[in-house]
Amino acid sequence: MSTEKQFDVVVIGGGPGGYVAAIRAAQLGFKTACIDEWQNAKGGPALGGTCTNVGCIPSKALLQSSEHFEHAGHAFAEHGIDVAGLSLNLGQMLKRKEGVVKANNDGIVYLFKKNKVTFFHGRGTFAGKAEGGFTVNVSGPTTDSISAKNVIIATGSNARELPGAAFDEKVILSNTGALTVDAVPAKLGVIGAGVIGLEMGSVWRRLGAKVTVLEGLPTFLGAIDEQIAKEAHKLFTKQGLDIQLGVKINSVTKGDNNVTVDYADAAGAAKSETFDRLIISIGRVPNTNGLGIETVGVQLDERGFVAVDDECRTNVPGIWAVGDVVRGPMLAHKAEEEGVAVAERIAGQHGHVNFNTIPWVIYTSPEIAWVGKTEQQLKKEGVAYKAGTFPFMANGRARALGDTSGMVKFLADATTDEILGVHIVGPVASELISEAVVAMEFRASSEDIARICHAHPSLSEATKEAALAVDKRSLNF
Ligand code: FAD
Ligand code: NAI
Repeated sequence: MSTEKQFDVVVIGGGPGGYVAAIRAAQLGFKTACIDEWQNAKGGPALGGTCTNVGCIPSKALLQSSEHFEHAGHAFAEHGIDVAGLSLNLGQMLKRKEGVVKANNDGIVYLFKKNKVTFFHGRGTFAGKAEGGFTVNVSGPTTDSISAKNVIIATGSNARELPGAAFDEKVILSNTGALTVDAVPAKLGVIGAGVIGLEMGSVWRRLGAKVTVLEGLPTFLGAIDEQIAKEAHKLFTKQGLDIQLGVKINSVTKGDNNVTVDYADAAGAAKSETFDRLIISIGRVPNTNGLGIETVGVQLDERGFVAVDDECRTNVPGIWAVGDVVRGPMLAHKAEEEGVAVAERIAGQHGHVNFNTIPWVIYTSPEIAWVGKTEQQLKKEGVAYKAGTFPFMANGRARALGDTSGMVKFLADATTDEILGVHIVGPVASELISEAVVAMEFRASSEDIARICHAHPSLSEATKEAALAVDKRSLNF
């Protein structure tokens, strides 16, 4: 193999885990290549993976646009702004979303050039061991064979199918189809009240669809803090999302332009609903399709994820794996942190990812964000804790915004006062949670946050007040 085909590091997958790993490896002085197979509508490369193309970025673009539409329809009037003749131009909304996606795709191409990462457009497949490393074949728009001492697998995940309800992306939609519906469905069904179900259900409800969400578990958002989940459930129901818990889906029958779901409700009664479109968002599965890992002996775990240790090493020395294709939360920022940490470990440094301080955000309105332990987890683990909450209703900035829903909740160790968890449902929770993440990384106490000066009027004062509430010393509630 010619030397130009030999690399120090080859990354397979150009999503948030892969492209960030490639950039960090190149920054550390490694000759680095990244292979990604995603194609845009014209067959060209579309770097950024699920997150950029059919995940985080397009969903947030539509959430923003649909929120503007809803505000123009309802919320502006309270501010004394009358909007006459409001209408929806869905085509333009989808076009804008595509523009946002493309700007992110192009941004990564620019970053690869800037950092001297060599990009190969196509599918990467392990071909075997090479001298001092591994050979990876590239097939697709680019055909090639390259080798490297270190290979990072960052091949991501795909939507999980419900047996008997294959995605056709016209009537039965995964996240991909849910982002490209070209006319607002009168009746939209969603199976799974998880992150995608709530975000995409919110988009289409705001644009005019009657949305029914069918969730298998008896509790709403069972993994998040119960108090926050109850508040969110109340708010979403008030907005018009029909969330049915504890259902059992019996069958999904596709018609020409609709789909019928037969299910048993929580009481066991047989129900049947016909929808114009159905989003199935029941989790995602790791993607190792066509990767050829058997050729080099990389093992999967019992759930089909690439098996790795705490530092993202597979069972084969020199082969690493990061992001959605390995255990842990399926989040873009988790994938990125693992990508950086692996590049640094290859360089002999001590890359580190703290799983206890990975924030979660659900971008509904209001947003839900949290980090650390929930109250029910602390109870289960027998940890003595103190709790403090503060409602946005008592926050001046929230009143000025016209968005006083929700609260901030602090959980702190009863003895040391160390912050153990922070949970927010409310306006811009996605940004507010960062303060809690930083505090927890520095192992701060609730007293630390309570004594820090926060700008007035700002939503972050609710964070300070919740910290004060841990010791029952809220000033404004
Ligand atoms: P991916 O982003 O899936 O990238 C993997 C890449 O590898 C893809 O480009 C794929 O084509 C490529 N690939 C796979 N196999 C090969 C191969 N053999 N050869 C070459 N290329 C290959 N997370 C958040 O943190 N915040 C959010 O707001 C958020 N919103 C989301 C909304 C939706 C609708 C969805 C579906 C997901 C969302 N996520 C969000 C999750 C986030 O998208 C994933 O956690 C993240 O993309 C994982 O990154 P990754 O690099 O591991 O994999
Ligand atoms: P999810 O795991 O968040 O939710 C799936 C839901 O479907 C669960 O509530 C589950 O109980 C339910 N379910 C499973 N099988 C079912 C069945 N047969 N019938 C009825 N209900 C059933 O998965 P989702 O929403 O598909 O998202 C996948 C992942 O993508 C998320 O877990 C998250 O990691 C990531 N994501 C992150 C976002 C963010 O960070 N804002 C946004 C969207 C996705």
